[in-house]
Amino acid sequence: MKACLVFAVLVVGTVFAGQNIPCEQFDVSKVVRGKGAVEVACTAIEKRFSTAAHKHFFGMRMPAPFAVEIPLGGEALSFEASCGVDKSGAKGAVVLRVLGDGKELWASPSTAFGDKDEVKVCVDVSGVNAMTLAVDPVEGTGDGVLAVWGEARVTCRDGAVLPSDVRRTSRQLGVLTPGAADAPRINGPRVYGVRPGKPILYRVPVTGQRPMKLKVECSESGLSFDPDTQVLSGSIKEPGEYTVAIVAENSSGKAEKTLTIKVGEKIGLTPALGWSSWNAFGGSVSDAKVRAAADALVATGLADHGYSYVNIDDFWQNIPERAKEDPDLDGPLRDAEGRIAANRRFPDMKGLVDYIHAKGLKAGIYSSPGPYTCGRAVGSWQHEEFDAKTFADWGFDYLKHDWCFYDDVAFGKGLDRAMYPYLVMGRALAHQERDIYFSLCQYGMENVSAWGRLVGAQSWRTTGDVFDTWSSVSAAIEKQKKLFYYTEPGAWNDPDMLCVGNVCWNDGRPTRLAPNEQYTHVSLWALLAAPMLIGCDLTKIDDFTLSLLSNDEVIDIDQDPLGKGAGCIAEGDEWEIWARPLEDGSIAAGLYNKSSREQTVVFDLEAAGLMCKWRVRDVWRQDDIGVFLGKYEAVVPGHATHLVRLFPLPCGHLREGMDDIRENAWRLLRAKDLSKGTLLL
Ligand code: GLA
Repeated sequence: MKACLVFAVLVVGTVFAGQNIPCEQFDVSKVVRGKGAVEVACTAIEKRFSTAAHKHFFGMRMPAPFAVEIPLGGEALSFEASCGVDKSGAKGAVVLRVLGDGKELWASPSTAFGDKDEVKVCVDVSGVNAMTLAVDPVEGTGDGVLAVWGEARVTCRDGAVLPSDVRRTSRQLGVLTPGAADAPRINGPRVYGVRPGKPILYRVPVTGQRPMKLKVECSESGLSFDPDTQVLSGSIKEPGEYTVAIVAENSSGKAEKTLTIKVGEKIGLTPALGWSSWNAFGGSVSDAKVRAAADALVATGLADHGYSYVNIDDFWQNIPERAKEDPDLDGPLRDAEGRIAANRRFPDMKGLVDYIHAKGLKAGIYSSPGPYTCGRAVGSWQHEEFDAKTFADWGFDYLKHDWCFYDDVAFGKGLDRAMYPYLVMGRALAHQERDIYFSLCQYGMENVSAWGRLVGAQSWRTTGDVFDTWSSVSAAIEKQKKLFYYTEPGAWNDPDMLCVGNVCWNDGRPTRLAPNEQYTHVSLWALLAAPMLIGCDLTKIDDFTLSLLSNDEVIDIDQDPLGKGAGCIAEGDEWEIWARPLEDGSIAAGLYNKSSREQTVVFDLEAAGLMCKWRVRDVWRQDDIGVFLGKYEAVVPGHATHLVRLFPLPCGHLREGMDDIRENAWRLLRAKDLSKGTLLL
């Protein structure tokens, strides 16, 4: 009771100004009693710990008897959790305890399997060096009872860093992207896919000092270009490839680039680059916030680095169930004709999309095949044709289609069950007058990477929701290992949106990812050929985040027209090398340090099949490092990724008989899977 009061005081006092550190950030390696390991759940979708009273979005689970020591280094103020016994373990009862430097600070009453309520702990841990979380079986209880610390977190003062945080154990990288040059540079993809006769909207991204003369030679295609808005538009009826020559000139220089417009059935020929409302605003998205994001994409220069989508996620619809907390969400789900209704925060959806289009940007919207979306707004179930038409009439260019609540109405088994709702929506979208990039969001179920393209999708989520914590980002990377061979132009694995900048998971404050971790996040997404959807409030973007998102050589890797996403081609205990081939014959590689301590990572070029000499370029610094033969090594700070591009010198080549650097990744996977006696997929 005393502890709870202390916590209550902290909540209104210091904690408000403090930072919440969820258990995914704890170092749980020091098990001091018991067998097994602490399991940490960190995503809303894939792994949940459930007691009879509650499903937890994140938390820790441990088998009784057990004790784990968590280093706090005197930095924390309070620890809180909601405790119970997991439904998936054995029946029985436990006592949960919190100790500070060996002294008991709190003990639960006997807590049993099936209890209707959970026990809340909120305890003052200020000054504690090592906190121990212990679980003891109540007499007569056998093995296999699993104790849950749901939503376990500590609160620290702002700026405090736990001893296990990579910020303590390793130096952090600062801004690496060089400042913008005065001379023009034409950015963005080199290919653009559109279906015959469908509208084309492409804002030519160019950096460099203004005033600048922009010319686009597009007479062959019949498109038109407006140099003031930088927008290329029109439509082309005849399938084929059309070249558009772009020239940009200012007092500091001249740049030229060719864009190939491929008119055919494939769209989304490079992964989507843009912004989405979800990680930035969650359930509080509004017309004003979306307009501000579109303005900021242009004002910050991000649009000139190629970011073009402005996507509205969940909560644009009415949600009567939430109307009590938020009256803006009160209203009809559909109008008399069945047309889905936007909520009060979106009074003029068409007007909003026109606003986005007028800037040369594209607009995205969100729905679910279920009767409800994840936020409990109305979904598209049994209204797919209708909704696709509404989205097209409003002018949308992108649909993210979730899975939430579809389970309640799903039928069939396995692939049939998983594919059907997306086939229905995919076909509905294909009937519209405009191209709509179809982005599936079912978290990778039934190996969606293998069939997403068959339902007409251009990208598919391969993970549950990724949050701004290291365990979340690194787990998402791990999941991509088996998926590289599914990527190709128009078919992208999507390991979720970027968690950099100010994110709503952290109450609108800067991401909890350390700078090195953010380098890994963006480097790996570029290597993986993943959509890069910025998830922060762009009106408050800081210089570091902007530098992370606007490195044209990093973006070029993501947008490479070959579309071959990276595989993990070599690995050690605490490092990995991910690599992909690029269209010009060069190779992009990331030396990824999984450890929280700085280490030297050796890229054995010869073992990977890179024979003779290669020029190695530091992609983040946009600087050549030198020419290497046999081996390349670099000192990589904890949790960071050193991103390089290797260009063959005249003698440089891939080993005889090898035509894709990712064959190494294939071999690594096979070695593991065959030794386990399982099939690769
Ligand atoms: C799911 C998705 C998220 C977001 C929310 C909206 O959790 O995975 O990306 O769209 O739904 O409710």
